[in-house]
Amino acid sequence: MSTLFYEPSTRTRLSFESAMSRLGGTVLSTESAGEYSSAAKGETLEDTVRTVEGYADCIVIRHFQEGSAKRAASVASIPILNAGDGPGQHPTQALLDLYTIQREIGRLESIKVGMIGDLANGRTVRSLCMLLSMYNDIQIYFVAPDVVRMRDDVKNYLTARGVRWTEVSDLREVTADADVLYQTRIQRERFQNPDDYAAARGKYIIDRDLMRILKPTAVVMHPLPRVDEITTDVDSDPRAAYFRQARNGLYVRMALLKLCLADGYQPDIAL
Ligand code: CP
Repeated sequence: MSTLFYEPSTRTRLSFESAMSRLGGTVLSTESAGEYSSAAKGETLEDTVRTVEGYADCIVIRHFQEGSAKRAASVASIPILNAGDGPGQHPTQALLDLYTIQREIGRLESIKVGMIGDLANGRTVRSLCMLLSMYNDIQIYFVAPDVVRMRDDVKNYLTARGVRWTEVSDLREVTADADVLYQTRIQRERFQNPDDYAAARGKYIIDRDLMRILKPTAVVMHPLPRVDEITTDVDSDPRAAYFRQARNGLYVRMALLKLCLADGYQPDIAL
């Protein structure tokens, strides 16, 4: 497995690398592909992929441009796994999120999910919406500062699939009703205008006080990394599932690698 990471990562990269090691395979990578691979000399993503597929059986790619994994897949003859394409999609995160919901609350149907924070730039919530739409009786609440509301493509997708969604400004109202609170970081690196970032940050924080109105059976998730949107005194609450969620990434990625490296595997979906 080759890992081509043009953006920073802790969980996705290390869990993929650990997954491949545990399956008995090996990993090829460069530190920070944007700086230390020949991309720094002007090589296109397509040429890099055509080259690396000669050395590896699959490529895990994180890139700053939306649609980059699809571009890579269009020239590759080996599986390409999208580890995050700018503000586009993060499908393997969404799979581990589903796995976490199933493990934590015991079902994927008839759930109410509050998605909070930077919903415009948050690729994890975009992918999670798409996967949740495959299950029955899902209610999604979007809670976001005005400058980073969920984009229309996802809202239209959910509507077309018959998923109930609504935008709510009161986080307490959503917290009292949700089975899953899915918090996200305001992604400073994606803002063109620092005033927009200042307007968005700090608006929705999960703290001990808010946890008092969360149902005993509900959980708090976060794809991580966090900055200050969940206070650290929440970590010891048994309903804080985000570090268990990160650990689940290892098992889900082991399963994915086993699947896509199996004889005769044909990808039938590209996000
Ligand atoms: N959840 C996630 O994608 O984390 P990293 O950016 O650390 O990989």
